[in-house]
Amino acid sequence: MASSLIDATPTTGRPGTAVAAGIAGVGSALPDEVVTNDDWAAVLDTSDEWITTRTGIRERRRAGEADATSDLALRAGLAALADAGITPDQLGAVIVATTSPDHMLPQTAPIVAAALGTELPAFDLGAACSGFVYGLSVAAGLTTTIGCGPVLLIGAETLTRLIDPEDRTTAVLFGDGAGACVVAADAGQIGPFDLGSDGSLADVLIIPAGGTRKPATKDTVAGREHFIRMDGPRVYRHAVTRMASSSAAVLERAGLSSADVDLLIGHQANARILEGVTSRLGVPEERALVVVDEHGNTSAASIPLALDVARRDGRLRDGARILLTAFGAGATWGSCLLTWEGSS
Ligand code: ACO
Repeated sequence: MASSLIDATPTTGRPGTAVAAGIAGVGSALPDEVVTNDDWAAVLDTSDEWITTRTGIRERRRAGEADATSDLALRAGLAALADAGITPDQLGAVIVATTSPDHMLPQTAPIVAAALGTELPAFDLGAACSGFVYGLSVAAGLTTTIGCGPVLLIGAETLTRLIDPEDRTTAVLFGDGAGACVVAADAGQIGPFDLGSDGSLADVLIIPAGGTRKPATKDTVAGREHFIRMDGPRVYRHAVTRMASSSAAVLERAGLSSADVDLLIGHQANARILEGVTSRLGVPEERALVVVDEHGNTSAASIPLALDVARRDGRLRDGARILLTAFGAGATWGSCLLTWEGSS
């Protein structure tokens, strides 16, 4: 099966080296409501013990009725702008990576851009749980190659609206939240990247109806086909394999080894997946960030949410090499290296 690799080749320097762009500000937004494993066990045939052992998840957040994805995205975006010390009018574009947009049409990013009081170019990026890593490649490209100003890249999800509350195999896994970064030229280094996809795995994680393949009907609603369906064991296998091989490809392109990685931030789907990736790469456990216990799986929001936790914990010192890696529906996967500069 063919797969694609995008090597974020800079305008100067050898192929695969980093571009002179980085993260100038980070922010996040989590809904107030905490849903514990015991909360799920009260309504489903599951237990705290099963969920914790199989996934490492202890709790997740659920958005209030009034909040959709753009609301969480806006709050995270404003926090990232404040962290970067810039105002919306200084931005060049807004990108929202999401699998749970406010609507099928229009996209979520223009709603966020308008809420920021701007008419900036704004678009959604759909690469499921890999959306933030894909988004970094797009934002770094925009800001370094076409002279766009800083890009506000937001990963935002309200996945609790897309889970079947009667399906214990998926409901307990997902949570809501948003994380955002201001990607700016000369704020560190981003790259090399390794991005890929395998659409033959489309069925392993899918919302069967509601798109053009299977429009909404009474039957699709009755058949619960508008909720997420997942083949967990297949997702698990591919996630570990792809995140590890993609991370290794990035390190090879950068001429580095796992010993050079100061912090590994994998997509926070499941603690066992993260352990599998960490051990395959040979990164010491203490250098791998795990926040899935508190957030659950927040898809495109998981990496920027984790990045914000790492920043607040003081783990993003100047010059730190951070390896990001993700796998998601599609299937899509992607990894990249960040060299941190100017940590606050
Ligand atoms: N509580 C209790 N029992 C459960 C639950 C639950 N919440 N969910 C499933 N089970 C049961 C199943 O029904 C099955 O029972 P059966 O044997 O009587 O049929 C049994 O547990 C085993 O089911 P499996 O799916 O084989 O369980 P597995 O050990 O593979 O763990 C899990 C399931 C945790 C979903 C695992 O496959 C996994 O982590 N997969 C990755 C999925 C993931 O993280 N997806 C997120 C989206 S993709 C991404 O972000 C990368």
